[in-house]
Formats: sequence, structure tokens, C-alpha cells
Amino acid sequence: MKRPLTHPIARATSDWLGGLLAGRPWWMNAMMVFSAYMAFVYVPWDLLVKPVARDEEVWFGLVLTGYGAKLTEPIHWAIYAAGAYGFYHMRAWMWPWAAVYVAQVAIAMLVWNLLYGAPGLLGVIAGLVSAAPFALLVRALVRERERFGAAPAALGERYGEWGLVTGASSGIGAAFARALARQGVSCVLTARRRERLEALAAELEAAHGVATRVIAEDLEEPAAAARLAAAVSELPVSILVNNAGFGSAGRFDRQDPERLRALVQVSCAAPLELTHRLLPGMRSRGRGAVLFSGSIAGRQALPLHAAYAAGKAFELLLGESLRVELRDAGVDVLVVEPGSTATEFQEGSGEIRHAGVSPERVVEVALAALGRQPSVIVGWADWIRVNLATRLLPRALVAYLAREVMSQRTPPERR
Ligand SMILES: NC(=O)c1ccc[n+]([C@@H]2O[C@H](COP(=O)([O-])OP(=O)(O)OC[C@H]3O[C@@H](n4cnc5c(N)ncnc54)[C@H](OP(=O)(O)O)[C@@H]3O)[C@@H](O)[C@H]2O)c1
Repeated sequence: MKRPLTHPIARATSDWLGGLLAGRPWWMNAMMVFSAYMAFVYVPWDLLVKPVARDEEVWFGLVLTGYGAKLTEPIHWAIYAAGAYGFYHMRAWMWPWAAVYVAQVAIAMLVWNLLYGAPGLLGVIAGLVSAAPFALLVRALVRERERFGAAPAALGERYGEWGLVTGASSGIGAAFARALARQGVSCVLTARRRERLEALAAELEAAHGVATRVIAEDLEEPAAAARLAAAVSELPVSILVNNAGFGSAGRFDRQDPERLRALVQVSCAAPLELTHRLLPGMRSRGRGAVLFSGSIAGRQALPLHAAYAAGKAFELLLGESLRVELRDAGVDVLVVEPGSTATEFQEGSGEIRHAGVSPERVVEVALAALGRQPSVIVGWADWIRVNLATRLLPRALVAYLAREVMSQRTPPERR
């Protein structure tokens, strides 16, 4: 019998690794971990630190040295980075990509032994023996190809019949509602602009044959979240999308304090209360999903958008904490963190207009990450920017850099 882990660090690490390694056979996890080690530790060291004179790379069994080796290292770097990413996300392109690369290694083993190994039959045998494990790995990848890029079951099947989307009258919320309905989920649509919600409800019913319920509520009102939860109490709401929100760009002391209070109410208090009121139903049914529309603004200080950034940081930490609390309750939690998105948000927040990704892309990324990770940043450029800013640079410097970006996006009269 397996003994339960008693040390808290061992327990925490085991839970974390359990989530990270779930859904792949051990040998595939070994390939993912090896790729990550090569991408983050070995190849960077090889490329950036190792002297050119000591450099050595093997391609198809041919040994390259010196600058010949150095110049091919970025290719190795890209291969292993793609490998770590592809196995982590089980992308459809990963198995043929990995199979071709591993086949190259098998050939390299054979050729290297023939060229540089023991002479004669001994070299052939050594080559075949060292190529065999890699040939078996190619076979295993081909046999397990169905695992890659497999679409998860539809949301309706995974979580249940009803979803509730706040801020469904526009932008990301409307895109969430459309995606839920497309996957067989009936939707409660809420925001302030009733006509828009009714138009969307009619669209979803006609296009996807799902049921809808329109509830106009102003989440700035402290009692609104409780009213909303009471209005859906007889529905088995199993997907909650806490999406409603707005920003308020500009110098903090120039802002209307009432608008700042409303921002905190809509971004923090309302999702907190709605989640708290709808979770017991999900827990008792043993399945559900809670999503938060956070933002990359929640990862760092954001002068000229201070209250907005603080509100998004609140949502990020609330969501990431709940994900661990609810790990064994069958309820998935995800915070989606878009950067600039082309919606009515910028206008509503008083920002100078700038380009952004589509709300549909935000929703696509969120739904692909739901159940797999606690939070997801939309787009690799923002992922790199956020990780550089939060892991490598001093926090104080990042705040000044953010001020420079925000000054360009804030009209002079609001600065
Ligand atoms: N667009 C971006 O660049 C971006 C980037 C990162 C994160 N986000 C986040 O994504 C979420 C959705 O924003 P969006 O980009 O889709 O903006 P949007 O097009 O302006 O939509 C905001 C939604 O929130 C609702 N809402 C605002 N105040 C409300 C209130 N007091 N009560 C009830 N509903 C309210 C609005 O509905 P009514 O006006 O009809 O009430 C609307 O449906 C927000 O939480 C935002 O912070 C946006």
C-alpha cells in the first residue's frame, strides 16, 4: 500500500507534479522533462558559456566542432524549446515532430558508431544496440499519436448544462457566451444593457438550440451579486464566467472616487460573492468550472491604471488559490489574462485606442487551458513580456516601465 506523504513540502511538490505530469505515459513525461532541461539549462549554457574551442555537436552522426558546432546550437535550442512546449500542451504537431527528431538521433547513433566507434562487426552491433531504444521511442510516439491534439469533451458534457456569464453584452463576455452555447451549454447572460443581452440570447437559441436566461443587473450595486445568485438558484449553474469589468485610466487623485469604488465592486467584490454563492452547487454535483477574466495588468504595478491593476491582481490570486482548494472537488478554476483586446474596453476606460487581439482568440485560449493550468496569458509576446518583467527585472523598475507605456495610452488631460 502507498504510504501518504507526511512532509508538507513533499506533499505540495507531489500534488504540483501530479497535475503537471497527468495525462501522459511516463516515457513521454521523461521526454518533456528532458526537453525542458535542454531548453532552459543545458543548451543555453552550451551556446552562451562553453568556449568555442571545446564545442561539439552531433548531427546525423557527424561530429561538428568549433564554430560549426556553435552555429547549429540555436537549432538545438529551438528543437528542445518546441519539444517542452509541445509535450506540455500535447499539441497535434508534437508527435510527428518528435518522431522525426528521435529518428534522426537513432540514425546518428548508428552512423556515429560506424564512423567513429569500434571497427568492423563490433561497431555495427554497438550502433544497432544504441539506436534501438530511440527506434522504440519512435514506434511508441506513432502508437500514441491519438493522444496529441485530442479535443476535450464539449463543455456541456464535462461540466454540466448551464453557464452564467457576467459582462455578456459585449467583447470577451459575448464571445464566452457564444463559445459556451456552441458547446451545448445553456447560458444565463447578465450585464446592464438588456437589449444587447436579449439580442445575444435570441442568436444563441437560434444558432445552437440552447436555453438562455437574461438578467439585467448592475454589479456596481453591492447587493447585485446576491440578487443574481438568487435569480439562478433553481438552475444547476456549473460554469461561472466572472468577466464583467472596466478600467479607469488616469492619475489616481484625479479620478472620481465613486468610479474607483464601483471598479473595486465590479472587479473584486462581485466575482468574489458570485463565486462563493454558486460554488456549493458545483461542489455538491462534483463538477464545475469557474473562470475569471483577469488581465496581464494584474501581474505588476500599473501607474495611471492603479486601481484596475490592483483589482486584476485580486482576481488572479483569488482564482489561483481557489484552483488548489478545489483540486479534489471536480471544479476547475482558471484566470485568463489577456493583454490588449479589441473590445469596447479601451473606450470605456478612457484610454487612447490601441491594437488588440480579438475577444474570440481570448476565449479560445481560455477554454483550451481550462482544467490544465491555473492561469493563462493570451499570446506568446505578452507571455514573454510578463515573464521577463516579473521574474527577471526589479519590481520597482517594471513599475516605471509600465508608467511609460501607460502615459502613451492615457490622454494628457487624464494624466
Ligand atoms: N479589452 C481588453 O483590452 C482587456 C484586457 C485584459 C482584460 N480585460 C478584461 O476582460 C473583461 C471584459 O472586458 P471587455 O474587453 O470585453 O470589455 P467590454 O467590451 O467593455 O465589456 C465589458 C463588459 O462588462 C460589463 N460591465 C461593465 N460594468 C458593469 C456593471 N457595473 N455591471 C454589470 N456589468 C458590467 C459590460 O456590460 P454593460 O455595460 O452592458 O453593463 C460589458 O458586457 C473585463 O474584466 C476586462 O477587465 C479586457
